[in-house]
Amino acid sequence: MEARWTVRSVLEASERVLVARGGVAPDLCPTRTDVTRTLAHVLGTDRLRLLMDSDRPLLDAERTEFRARFERLLTGEPLAYVLGTCEFYGRQFSIDNRALIPRPETELLVTEALRRLPQNATVFEPCTGSGCIAISLVLERADLVVSASDVSKDALALARHNAKSLGARVGFAEGSWWEPAAGRTFDALVANPPYVRPDAPELLDASVARFEPGLALFSEPGRPLSSYEALLRGGVAGLRSGGHVLFEAGIDTTQDLARILERSASYDQVDVLEDEAGIPRIVAARRK
Ligand SMILES: C[S@@+](CC[C@H](N)C(=O)[O-])C[C@H]1O[C@@H](n2cnc3c(N)ncnc32)[C@H](O)[C@@H]1O
Repeated sequence: MEARWTVRSVLEASERVLVARGGVAPDLCPTRTDVTRTLAHVLGTDRLRLLMDSDRPLLDAERTEFRARFERLLTGEPLAYVLGTCEFYGRQFSIDNRALIPRPETELLVTEALRRLPQNATVFEPCTGSGCIAISLVLERADLVVSASDVSKDALALARHNAKSLGARVGFAEGSWWEPAAGRTFDALVANPPYVRPDAPELLDASVARFEPGLALFSEPGRPLSSYEALLRGGVAGLRSGGHVLFEAGIDTTQDLARILERSASYDQVDVLEDEAGIPRIVAARRK
């Protein structure tokens, strides 16, 4: 008679694969936590309940679905894409390879925007990706009026889906940088644009470079600040006097970006804020 698979035996079998894989491809080897979270997701439970219920038998369909997702983990695909969901600012967002996986560091950009933006502020969030920033802003502060855009039609479809399923009112439009907001004026520009240098792949984990969209990651070759420059140029006409600028930036771009703003004729009151790890992350300024 065929042995029944249980939570315990599936996890033990997966562990044997991980041990073998860890020896040959350690940088693409998923963690045990990734595996238990995947199994918990397939069985519609959480990790703790899963581990407490380790004699639970699996239906054939459950085992087949787990195997398919486990195979994806073994290729180095990030857990969030394998599960199709990730948490950002206390909410579950749908995610897939149309958009960057929202990062915990980006929550600081949201917190800082919420702290600085005046009541009823109008906000433009280009480069919205999954929509995580724009959606979190309006769900945290119903007084804010948020418009978001992306040059990627696919990312925008995901952002619209997230806004609908989380019940957030965000005005979405497709286009490059300020193009979708031409002729309008805002109280704030909040953005996490692409800022990784394409000539420095060593700055990225192998799985990020392989699975997340290049359009979401990379600045123009040889111009690490190209995204910020385009957004700041547009902000001269698109932000009212005294309007806020809040950017997330990379470890190697923050100081240069702050310097550009300090020397600018159009912006002042430049601040650089560090994340929990003490890494400079957020650059804030005001439109003069
Ligand atoms: C770093 S991701 C940020 C995604 C999301 N806001 C977040 O924080 O997780 C950058 C986004 O910028 C978009 N993008 C790239 N070039 C753009 C352009 N010229 N205009 C508007 N969006 C652009 C990409 O499609 C991607 O969704």
